[in-house]
Amino acid sequence: MQNPIRIAPSILASDFARLGEEVAAVERAGADLIHVDVMDGHFVPNLTIGPGVVRALRPHGERPFDVHLMISPVDGFLADFAEAGADTLTVHPEAGPHIHRSLQLIKSLGKKAGLALNPGTPVEVVDPLLDQLDLICVMCVNPGFGGQTFLPGTLDKIAALRRRIDAQDRPIDLEVDGGITFETAPLVVEAGADVLVAGTAVFTGGPEAYGANIRRLRGGA
Ligand code: DX5
Ligand code: ZN
Repeated sequence: MQNPIRIAPSILASDFARLGEEVAAVERAGADLIHVDVMDGHFVPNLTIGPGVVRALRPHGERPFDVHLMISPVDGFLADFAEAGADTLTVHPEAGPHIHRSLQLIKSLGKKAGLALNPGTPVEVVDPLLDQLDLICVMCVNPGFGGQTFLPGTLDKIAALRRRIDAQDRPIDLEVDGGITFETAPLVVEAGADVLVAGTAVFTGGPEAYGANIRRLRGGA
């Protein structure tokens, strides 16, 4: 079942010199989750933040931290991010030789387990893993950078994953990440997404605009 829409601002688009204040500001503005993009310069062509920054940010937010790991190999860092305060750990199936083992490790750390699918990764990859998953993240751009253009071919993937999730007897969040704007948000919601990650669309306009940006993404005026 598609749950009420939740908005997960990606702090990749925030002011890195004021990260703690930015987390608090988007929470006051109505964010449901805080999306943290971790990049290693190897799995994706960009470098961002590590577990030390997640640990430092944790006291600045009360909402769950949705940590998106674009790093390979990933297994050796899972415990570090769990201890740093992540609530959900999302990995890519290409980020290690044994994706099922990575998901088991996340669960053994007491965290929610997410799987992120690149635009070129087929939906069938989730089939043997569904019993391990709390979240599936459909990448609507190639991961690595904020501010990219939404790939419309991903809408069919979202719909196909919605059907798979609805056939399960337990909840799995269906998240979309990349290129989510006021124009594309209604499309991904129509296709079945219930967690919308948005960087540029939330953080544009500065703190006084965050509330209106989040309401508009959620489908309000
Ligand atoms: C892309 C990241 C996204 C990104 C989204 O690799 O995973 O979370 O920050 O940024 P926007 O919303 O600007 O496309
Ligand atoms: Zn992300």
